[in-house]
Amino acid sequence: MSELIHTPVRKAQIFSGNANPELAQLVAQELDTELSPRILEPFSDGEIKCQLLDTVRGNYVFIIQSHGGGQVDVNTAIAEHQLLCDAAAGGSAAKVIAIAPYFGYSRQDRKAAGRESVGAKLLCTTLKAAGATGIVGIDLHSTQTQEFFDGPFDNLTAAPILRQAIMPELEEGVVVVSPDAGRNKAAARHRKELSGLGASVAYIDKSRPTDTINQVEALDVVGDVEGRQCLIVDDMIDTAGTISAAANLLAARGATDVLTMATHPVLSGNAISKLTSSAIRQLVVTDTLALSPDQLAMDNIRVVSVAKIIAGAIDEIFRDGSISKLFNGEDHS
Ligand code: R5P
Repeated sequence: MSELIHTPVRKAQIFSGNANPELAQLVAQELDTELSPRILEPFSDGEIKCQLLDTVRGNYVFIIQSHGGGQVDVNTAIAEHQLLCDAAAGGSAAKVIAIAPYFGYSRQDRKAAGRESVGAKLLCTTLKAAGATGIVGIDLHSTQTQEFFDGPFDNLTAAPILRQAIMPELEEGVVVVSPDAGRNKAAARHRKELSGLGASVAYIDKSRPTDTINQVEALDVVGDVEGRQCLIVDDMIDTAGTISAAANLLAARGATDVLTMATHPVLSGNAISKLTSSAIRQLVVTDTLALSPDQLAMDNIRVVSVAKIIAGAIDEIFRDGSISKLFNGEDHS
């Protein structure tokens, strides 16, 4: 009796949701390939029809979808992501990797008050149930989110490309500023990378008034900023309350120049007017979320692409390589 032996050839496919197809297209270009075709459109009642138009059996399927941005709201984007994973798993893909350049609900990472839901955990659980065998995110709001997924969850970082973009603007003695306690570790990492400029760190004591959402007060600055250039670093800018309050307080405390960089430009509500009327001279963000023409038209915004980073991660995962290698030893956890 002869054995049944099959020597597999591993094949990868990339599908995109509707939230940021431009970014997915750039990623495919970096990898010298094309996005695979799918149907992903709403029925009249708002439900979403999802069908992959190529066979995925036995393949590594990468599904790129940011959770919001552009014309797609966060909850629709997540539903699309889940349906795409389900279609790939149901089509017998060998691996289904959900790539979320911006991972939604990431700020709901713990039960901060009685009877509060933990959205980040639920999102991980539902992506798993939909068939995702792995997740890739970028600059997660908190790294503990990785532990909510039962499987590999790689957290990439845009820190090196953000720094590279802002570098020509930086002066000797720049102060890297964390706009709240959550970013202290990130600010310390940037300071270390900017030690050649004699960088130091400062922190903002931020508070959110009780029983409010999307309201921010920058109470105090811990550190020496008078007569110095300041670089505020954050993971995301949502309503821009945090970053504009921080920038205005730094200017009031004598900072000579205020620059900011953040990975995810959520830019909801009246973020544009807050940013343009703030003390921020320049803001560098990435394209993890698609921006509207009026957001892109802001005088002080500059966008750098994470396409190369995502393409690098796809390549490493597909070839059983190393994600850490992409960041030259910089802590990307
Ligand atoms: C908070 O912990 C985050 O790191 C951001 O600073 C915050 O979510 C930004 O939100 P907003 O722009 O609405 O203040």
